Amino acid sequence: MKTKILITIFATTLAMSLSAADVSENYEKHCTKCHGEDGKGDTKMGKKSGVKDLTDPKIQAEFKDERLFKAIKEGIKDGDKTKMKPSEGLDDDEIKALVAHVKKFK
Ligand code: HEC
Repeated sequence: MKTKILITIFATTLAMSLSAADVSENYEKHCTKCHGEDGKGDTKMGKKSGVKDLTDPKIQAEFKDERLFKAIKEGIKDGDKTKMKPSEGLDDDEIKALVAHVKKFK
């Protein structure tokens, strides 16, 4: 009985840490070059593409899950110009995790 509970706790912790590692890995791989590790966008590409400071409380206040999801999934366009590319090779759950990750920058 006790062992079963321990195994459950262990498996849950493992699953949680795995998904946490995944989302930072995805962020690192797909987003850091423009938004920077901390979301401030203080990178060469970030400055070039004109990213906003994702840690800014005023910007965070405008963030809605659906909007962020769409931005990450479909990218952001300004007329014909692509500001942020649609994500490639990320499934909806991974995108949702990234939405949560971005909201934690505040
Ligand atoms: C090529 C550079 C680039 C990459 C790579 C990139 N972004 Fe962006 N992102 C931008 C720019 C530029 C904007 C600001 C567009 C604007 O003017 O509103 C932006 C805006 C955003 C916003 C704000 C959306 C809103 O509704 O205001 C979020 C959130 C975001 N990016 C998350 C991500 C995540 C997560 C990734 C990785 C999957 C990513 N970005 C990858 C350039 C990039």
